[in-house]
Amino acid sequence: MITKGIILAGGSGTRLYPATLAISKQLLPVYDKPMIYYPLTILMLAGIRDVLIISTPHDLPQFETLLRDGSQWGINLSYAVQEHPEGLPQAYTIAREFLNGEPSAMILGDNIIYGARLSAPLLQACEKPKGATIFTYQTREPERFGIINLDKKQVPVSIEEKPKNPKSNNAITGLYFFDERASDIAADLKPSARGETEITDMIRFYMEEKTLGVAQLGRGYFWLDAGLHDSMLESSKFVAMIERHQRFKVGCPEEVAWRQEWITDDELLKIAHGPLVKSGYGQYLEEIINDFIHSGKRNRV
Ligand code: DAU
Repeated sequence: MITKGIILAGGSGTRLYPATLAISKQLLPVYDKPMIYYPLTILMLAGIRDVLIISTPHDLPQFETLLRDGSQWGINLSYAVQEHPEGLPQAYTIAREFLNGEPSAMILGDNIIYGARLSAPLLQACEKPKGATIFTYQTREPERFGIINLDKKQVPVSIEEKPKNPKSNNAITGLYFFDERASDIAADLKPSARGETEITDMIRFYMEEKTLGVAQLGRGYFWLDAGLHDSMLESSKFVAMIERHQRFKVGCPEEVAWRQEWITDDELLKIAHGPLVKSGYGQYLEEIINDFIHSGKRNRV
Protein backbone atom coordinates (compact mmCIF):
# COMPACT_ATOMS: atom_id res chain seq x y z
CA MET A 1 0.00 0.00 0.00
CA ILE A 2 1.45 3.35 -1.01
CA THR A 3 1.46 5.98 1.74
CA LYS A 4 4.33 8.20 0.58
CA GLY A 5 4.44 10.78 -2.19
CA ILE A 6 6.91 13.06 -3.93
CA ILE A 7 6.26 16.36 -5.69
CA LEU A 8 9.03 17.34 -8.06
CA ALA A 9 8.87 21.12 -8.28
CA GLY A 10 12.30 22.17 -9.45
CA GLY A 11 13.75 22.78 -12.88
CA SER A 12 14.86 26.07 -14.33
CA GLY A 13 11.48 27.22 -15.65
CA THR A 14 13.13 28.69 -18.75
CA ARG A 15 10.10 27.92 -20.91
CA LEU A 16 8.21 30.56 -18.91
CA TYR A 17 10.86 33.30 -18.82
CA PRO A 18 10.64 36.14 -17.84
CA ALA A 19 7.68 35.12 -15.62
CA THR A 20 9.90 32.69 -13.73
CA LEU A 21 13.14 34.70 -13.53
CA ALA A 22 12.52 35.51 -9.86
CA ILE A 23 9.93 32.94 -8.76
CA SER A 24 9.44 29.22 -9.22
CA LYS A 25 6.91 28.20 -11.85
CA GLN A 26 5.10 25.94 -9.38
CA LEU A 27 4.41 28.93 -7.10
CA LEU A 28 2.77 30.97 -9.83
CA PRO A 29 -1.02 31.11 -9.63
CA VAL A 30 -3.32 28.87 -11.62
CA TYR A 31 -6.42 31.04 -11.33
CA ASP A 32 -6.89 31.48 -7.56
CA LYS A 33 -4.16 29.39 -5.94
CA PRO A 34 -0.51 28.43 -6.33
CA MET A 35 0.15 25.81 -9.01
CA ILE A 36 1.59 23.31 -6.50
CA TYR A 37 -1.77 23.06 -4.68
CA TYR A 38 -3.13 21.03 -7.62
CA PRO A 39 -0.59 18.17 -7.61
CA LEU A 40 -0.55 18.20 -3.80
CA THR A 41 -4.30 17.65 -3.65
CA ILE A 42 -4.00 14.79 -6.15
CA LEU A 43 -1.67 12.98 -3.75
CA MET A 44 -4.04 13.80 -0.87
CA LEU A 45 -6.97 12.36 -2.84
CA ALA A 46 -4.91 9.18 -3.19
CA GLY A 47 -4.86 9.05 0.63
CA ILE A 48 -1.18 10.02 0.79
CA ARG A 49 -0.28 12.06 3.89
CA ASP A 50 3.50 11.86 3.87
CA VAL A 51 4.92 14.04 1.09
CA LEU A 52 8.42 15.11 0.08
CA ILE A 53 8.72 18.32 -1.92
CA ILE A 54 11.83 18.63 -4.07
CA SER A 55 12.93 21.92 -5.56
CA THR A 56 15.94 24.09 -6.29
CA PRO A 57 18.11 25.54 -3.50
CA HIS A 58 16.80 29.00 -4.44
CA ASP A 59 13.09 28.11 -4.47
CA LEU A 60 12.75 25.52 -1.71
CA PRO A 61 12.51 28.08 1.18
CA GLN A 62 9.51 29.71 -0.53
CA PHE A 63 7.71 26.37 -0.75
CA GLU A 64 8.37 25.92 2.96
CA THR A 65 6.92 29.37 3.68
CA LEU A 66 3.81 28.55 1.69
CA LEU A 67 3.13 24.96 2.73
CA ARG A 68 4.89 24.69 6.13
CA ASP A 69 5.04 21.26 7.78
CA GLY A 70 1.58 20.31 6.49
CA SER A 71 0.09 19.81 9.98
CA GLN A 72 -2.48 22.56 9.23
CA TRP A 73 -3.91 20.09 6.67
CA GLY A 74 -3.33 16.94 8.70
CA ILE A 75 -0.41 15.85 6.54
CA ASN A 76 3.35 15.67 6.92
CA LEU A 77 5.49 17.67 4.47
CA SER A 78 9.25 17.39 4.18
CA TYR A 79 11.61 19.17 1.82
CA ALA A 80 14.72 18.26 -0.18
CA VAL A 81 16.97 20.14 -2.57
CA GLN A 82 17.79 19.16 -6.14
CA GLU A 83 21.06 20.97 -6.78
CA HIS A 84 20.88 20.64 -10.58
CA PRO A 85 17.98 19.44 -12.73
CA GLU A 86 19.45 16.22 -14.10
CA GLY A 87 16.22 14.42 -14.92
CA LEU A 88 12.95 13.34 -13.31
CA PRO A 89 14.34 9.99 -12.00
CA GLN A 90 16.81 11.96 -9.90
CA ALA A 91 13.87 12.68 -7.58
CA TYR A 92 14.08 9.01 -6.64
CA THR A 93 17.75 9.10 -5.71
CA ILE A 94 17.16 12.27 -3.67
CA ALA A 95 14.12 10.68 -1.98
CA ARG A 96 15.87 7.42 -1.04
CA GLU A 97 16.13 8.26 2.67
CA PHE A 98 12.58 9.65 2.82
CA LEU A 99 11.18 6.53 1.14
CA ASN A 100 13.11 4.19 3.41
CA GLY A 101 12.50 1.19 1.14
CA GLU A 102 8.78 1.87 0.64
CA PRO A 103 6.73 2.25 -2.57
CA SER A 104 5.54 5.72 -3.55
CA ALA A 105 3.69 8.02 -5.91
CA MET A 106 5.38 10.92 -7.67
CA ILE A 107 3.69 13.88 -9.35
CA LEU A 108 5.26 16.73 -11.27
CA GLY A 109 4.56 20.11 -9.70
CA ASP A 110 3.09 21.53 -12.91
CA ASN A 111 0.58 18.76 -13.64
CA ILE A 112 -3.12 19.49 -13.18
CA ILE A 113 -5.63 16.65 -13.26
CA TYR A 114 -9.33 17.03 -12.73
CA GLY A 115 -12.30 14.70 -13.02
CA ALA A 116 -15.15 13.10 -11.15
CA ARG A 117 -14.35 10.08 -8.98
CA LEU A 118 -10.62 10.47 -9.54
CA SER A 119 -9.90 8.93 -6.13
CA ALA A 120 -10.92 5.45 -7.33
CA PRO A 121 -8.14 4.90 -9.92
CA LEU A 122 -5.66 6.64 -7.60
CA LEU A 123 -6.46 4.28 -4.73
CA GLN A 124 -6.25 1.32 -7.08
CA ALA A 125 -2.73 2.39 -8.11
CA CYS A 126 -1.78 2.74 -4.44
CA GLU A 127 -2.96 -0.79 -3.73
CA LYS A 128 -1.02 -2.50 -6.55
CA PRO A 129 1.40 -4.78 -4.70
CA LYS A 130 4.20 -5.00 -7.29
CA GLY A 131 5.35 -2.94 -10.24
CA ALA A 132 4.24 0.50 -11.37
CA THR A 133 1.20 2.40 -12.61
CA ILE A 134 1.14 5.31 -15.01
CA PHE A 135 -1.79 7.46 -16.09
CA THR A 136 -2.25 8.29 -19.77
CA TYR A 137 -4.28 10.90 -21.60
CA GLN A 138 -5.05 11.38 -25.28
CA THR A 139 -3.11 14.36 -26.61
CA ARG A 140 -3.05 16.34 -29.84
CA GLU A 141 0.63 17.16 -29.26
CA PRO A 142 2.37 13.78 -28.82
CA GLU A 143 5.77 15.31 -29.68
CA ARG A 144 5.67 17.21 -26.36
CA PHE A 145 5.33 14.22 -24.02
CA GLY A 146 6.36 10.72 -23.09
CA ILE A 147 4.26 8.44 -25.32
CA ILE A 148 3.26 4.83 -24.67
CA ASN A 149 1.95 2.43 -27.27
CA LEU A 150 -0.45 -0.36 -26.41
CA ASP A 151 -1.24 -3.43 -28.50
CA LYS A 152 -4.76 -4.61 -29.34
CA LYS A 153 -5.10 -6.25 -25.94
CA GLN A 154 -4.13 -2.94 -24.28
CA VAL A 155 -0.74 -4.35 -23.26
CA PRO A 156 2.03 -1.70 -23.30
CA VAL A 157 4.62 -2.55 -25.95
CA SER A 158 6.79 0.51 -26.48
CA ILE A 159 7.54 3.84 -24.91
CA GLU A 160 9.31 6.94 -26.17
CA GLU A 161 10.16 10.37 -24.75
CA LYS A 162 9.03 13.22 -27.01
CA PRO A 163 9.01 11.13 -30.22
CA LYS A 164 9.56 12.87 -33.58
CA ASN A 165 7.30 10.28 -35.24
CA PRO A 166 4.80 9.33 -32.53
CA LYS A 167 3.20 5.90 -32.82
CA SER A 168 0.17 6.94 -30.76
CA ASN A 169 -1.46 9.85 -28.94
CA ASN A 170 -1.23 8.22 -25.52
CA ALA A 171 0.63 10.80 -23.45
CA ILE A 172 2.12 9.70 -20.16
CA THR A 173 1.00 12.20 -17.55
CA GLY A 174 3.34 13.36 -14.81
CA LEU A 175 1.78 11.10 -12.17
CA TYR A 176 3.64 7.88 -11.44
CA PHE A 177 3.25 5.07 -8.92
CA PHE A 178 6.36 2.93 -8.38
CA ASP A 179 7.13 0.04 -6.06
CA GLU A 180 9.98 0.03 -3.55
CA ARG A 181 12.65 -0.61 -6.22
CA ALA A 182 12.31 2.84 -7.78
CA SER A 183 15.37 4.43 -6.14
CA ASP A 184 17.61 1.54 -7.22
CA ILE A 185 16.27 1.63 -10.77
CA ALA A 186 16.78 5.41 -10.94
CA ALA A 187 20.36 5.11 -9.66
CA ASP A 188 21.25 2.69 -12.50
CA LEU A 189 19.95 4.87 -15.34
CA LYS A 190 22.27 6.46 -17.88
CA PRO A 191 21.61 10.00 -19.19
CA SER A 192 19.93 10.23 -22.59
CA ALA A 193 21.24 12.21 -25.58
CA ARG A 194 19.87 15.41 -24.00
CA GLY A 195 22.08 14.86 -20.95
CA GLU A 196 19.34 13.92 -18.43
CA THR A 197 18.03 10.64 -17.11
CA GLU A 198 14.55 9.97 -18.46
CA ILE A 199 11.42 8.90 -16.59
CA THR A 200 10.44 6.88 -19.67
CA ASP A 201 13.51 4.64 -19.06
CA MET A 202 12.27 3.98 -15.53
CA ILE A 203 8.80 3.13 -16.83
CA ARG A 204 10.33 0.89 -19.53
CA PHE A 205 11.97 -1.22 -16.81
CA TYR A 206 8.52 -2.10 -15.45
CA MET A 207 7.03 -2.50 -18.93
CA GLU A 208 9.68 -5.08 -19.86
CA GLU A 209 9.11 -6.86 -16.57
CA LYS A 210 5.37 -6.90 -17.42
CA THR A 211 4.45 -5.26 -14.11
CA LEU A 212 3.39 -1.91 -15.58
CA GLY A 213 -0.24 -0.91 -15.15
CA VAL A 214 -1.63 1.72 -17.53
CA ALA A 215 -4.66 3.66 -16.30
CA GLN A 216 -6.27 5.71 -19.05
CA LEU A 217 -7.84 9.01 -18.10
CA GLY A 218 -10.77 9.15 -20.49
CA ARG A 219 -12.89 11.94 -21.87
CA GLY A 220 -14.38 12.80 -18.47
CA TYR A 221 -11.04 14.06 -17.27
CA PHE A 222 -8.94 17.15 -17.78
CA TRP A 223 -5.14 16.93 -17.73
CA LEU A 224 -2.71 19.70 -18.43
CA ASP A 225 0.99 20.25 -18.00
CA ALA A 226 0.94 23.95 -17.10
CA GLY A 227 4.57 24.46 -18.04
CA LEU A 228 4.06 26.79 -21.02
CA HIS A 229 2.50 30.26 -21.17
CA ASP A 230 -0.53 29.04 -23.10
CA SER A 231 -1.12 25.87 -21.09
CA MET A 232 -0.83 27.86 -17.86
CA LEU A 233 -3.42 30.32 -19.09
CA GLU A 234 -5.65 27.48 -20.27
CA SER A 235 -5.39 25.82 -16.85
CA SER A 236 -6.40 29.07 -15.17
CA LYS A 237 -9.35 29.49 -17.52
CA PHE A 238 -10.43 25.90 -16.96
CA VAL A 239 -10.28 26.18 -13.17
CA ALA A 240 -12.08 29.55 -13.25
CA MET A 241 -14.87 28.10 -15.36
CA ILE A 242 -15.35 25.02 -13.18
CA GLU A 243 -15.26 27.04 -9.97
CA ARG A 244 -17.75 29.60 -11.25
CA HIS A 245 -20.21 27.08 -12.65
CA GLN A 246 -19.96 24.23 -10.17
CA ARG A 247 -19.45 26.24 -7.00
CA PHE A 248 -16.74 23.79 -5.94
CA LYS A 249 -13.06 24.61 -5.88
CA VAL A 250 -10.48 22.55 -7.73
CA GLY A 251 -7.21 21.75 -5.97
CA CYS A 252 -8.11 23.07 -2.52
CA PRO A 253 -5.96 21.24 0.08
CA GLU A 254 -8.00 22.53 3.04
CA GLU A 255 -11.15 21.03 1.54
CA VAL A 256 -9.55 17.69 0.69
CA ALA A 257 -8.03 17.44 4.19
CA TRP A 258 -11.41 18.13 5.74
CA ARG A 259 -13.30 15.70 3.48
CA GLN A 260 -10.71 13.03 4.25
CA GLU A 261 -11.40 13.75 7.94
CA TRP A 262 -7.77 14.66 8.53
CA ILE A 263 -8.86 17.97 10.05
CA THR A 264 -11.98 18.76 12.08
CA ASP A 265 -14.75 21.28 11.39
CA ASP A 266 -13.21 23.60 13.98
CA GLU A 267 -9.78 23.40 12.40
CA LEU A 268 -11.23 24.19 8.99
CA LEU A 269 -13.22 27.11 10.40
CA LYS A 270 -10.09 28.48 12.02
CA ILE A 271 -8.33 28.46 8.63
CA ALA A 272 -11.44 29.99 7.00
CA HIS A 273 -11.46 32.91 9.44
CA GLY A 274 -7.72 33.57 9.16
CA PRO A 275 -5.87 35.52 6.46
CA LEU A 276 -7.84 33.76 3.69
CA VAL A 277 -11.01 35.61 4.57
CA LYS A 278 -10.68 38.62 2.27
CA SER A 279 -10.06 36.74 -0.98
CA GLY A 280 -13.29 34.73 -0.77
CA TYR A 281 -11.28 31.53 -0.27
CA GLY A 282 -12.06 31.51 3.46
CA GLN A 283 -15.72 32.13 2.74
CA TYR A 284 -15.73 29.07 0.47
CA LEU A 285 -14.33 26.90 3.28
CA GLU A 286 -17.07 28.15 5.57
CA GLU A 287 -19.70 27.40 2.92
CA ILE A 288 -18.66 23.77 2.51
CA ILE A 289 -18.97 23.19 6.26
CA ASN A 290 -22.38 24.87 6.37
CA ASP A 291 -23.57 22.85 3.37
CA PHE A 292 -22.50 19.68 5.11
CA ILE A 293 -24.17 20.56 8.40
CA HIS A 294 -27.43 21.50 6.68
CA SER A 295 -27.43 18.49 4.35
CA GLY A 296 -27.73 16.01 7.21
CA LYS A 297 -25.19 13.78 5.40
CA ARG A 298 -22.82 11.74 7.50
CA ASN A 299 -20.08 11.40 4.93
CA ARG A 300 -18.15 14.49 3.88
CA VAL A 301 -17.06 13.10 0.51
O1 DAU B 1 3.96 16.46 -18.03
C1 DAU B 1 4.16 15.14 -18.47
C2 DAU B 1 5.52 14.97 -19.11
O2 DAU B 1 6.50 15.37 -18.14
C3 DAU B 1 5.76 13.50 -19.52
O3 DAU B 1 4.89 13.16 -20.58
C4 DAU B 1 7.19 13.27 -19.96
O4 DAU B 1 7.42 11.91 -20.18
C5 DAU B 1 8.14 13.78 -18.88
O5 DAU B 1 9.50 13.68 -19.29
C6 DAU B 1 7.86 15.23 -18.56
O6 DAU B 1 8.11 16.01 -19.71
P1 DAU B 1 8.46 17.58 -19.60
O7 DAU B 1 8.88 18.08 -20.95
O8 DAU B 1 7.35 18.29 -18.93
O9 DAU B 1 9.71 17.50 -18.65
P2 DAU B 1 10.52 18.66 -18.00
O10 DAU B 1 11.97 18.41 -18.22
O11 DAU B 1 9.96 19.99 -18.39
O12 DAU B 1 10.22 18.46 -16.44
C7 DAU B 1 8.93 18.39 -15.90
C8 DAU B 1 8.85 19.19 -14.62
O13 DAU B 1 9.77 18.71 -13.64
C9 DAU B 1 9.19 20.65 -14.82
O14 DAU B 1 8.19 21.39 -14.14
C10 DAU B 1 10.51 20.87 -14.16
C11 DAU B 1 10.64 19.73 -13.19
N1 DAU B 1 12.00 19.18 -13.15
C12 DAU B 1 12.51 18.67 -14.30
C13 DAU B 1 13.76 18.09 -14.30
C14 DAU B 1 14.33 17.50 -15.55
C15 DAU B 1 12.68 19.13 -11.99
O15 DAU B 1 12.19 19.60 -10.94
N2 DAU B 1 13.92 18.56 -11.96
C16 DAU B 1 14.49 18.03 -13.07
O16 DAU B 1 15.61 17.50 -12.98
